[in-house]
Amino acid sequence: MKFSSEIMEELDLKSHWNNAYDKTKTKNLGWFEETCAPSIDLINSCHLNKKSCILNVGAGTTLLIDELIALQYTNLIANDISNIALDKIKKRLGSNKKHVKFIIDNLLKPSSLNLINPVDLWHDRAVLHFFTDKEDQKAYFNLLKTKVKLGGYVIIATFNLEGAIQCSGLPVQRYNKAMISKRLGKNFNLIKCFDYTFYNPSGDSREYIYTLFKRNSM
Ligand SMILES: C[S@@+](CC[C@H](N)C(=O)[O-])C[C@H]1O[C@@H](n2cnc3c(N)ncnc32)[C@H](O)[C@@H]1O
Repeated sequence: MKFSSEIMEELDLKSHWNNAYDKTKTKNLGWFEETCAPSIDLINSCHLNKKSCILNVGAGTTLLIDELIALQYTNLIANDISNIALDKIKKRLGSNKKHVKFIIDNLLKPSSLNLINPVDLWHDRAVLHFFTDKEDQKAYFNLLKTKVKLGGYVIIATFNLEGAIQCSGLPVQRYNKAMISKRLGKNFNLIKCFDYTFYNPSGDSREYIYTLFKRNSM
């Protein structure tokens, strides 16, 4: 059972993100990527079957979903706490939305996400770094660990130690590969890792680390 302060926190978080997506066009969002090349390169290197289930957590309005459909992936899940963001993807995709299950849910207090079968790939770009509270980080990694199959992959792209200290007006936790590896634990092997400078629509740079892990045991 949720206490009223928890419900308020969740509503605040939801309205923060809904407000961002409501008042700003996708192409003007500070985290907008014209192409999701670094993610696509990592996903290609996994050599997944086109029917593999790819869960994009905190998808927002990312074009990654469109790019994966163009690559003929047919079993996608787009999750976000913001219903406005997911509605924008749905509208943009038109009939291609049949390849995507949309799940509005809070990664930190999941309900519908708890019900999905384990996935072949968990993809997160620019979501984990918003979880600055230790309990929230624990909740995020607990969910990830229950939702990635044996032999499945995890891509986490997050601000690196040179990265910004805020995004969307919120404080962030920055990571290096040792910190992410530690959180995932011994059941996940690091396969690839690189630093990446992202230039946002205003031309400002943001330093990311991209990591790809494979689950070797449960
Ligand atoms: C900076 S945006 C990145 C969006 C997308 N991944 C991209 O690369 O364009 C962060 C996203 O995380 C979502 N988000 C933040 N907290 C969340 C939570 N607790 N559960 C689910 N989504 C969340 C936000 O709504 C937002 O869409």
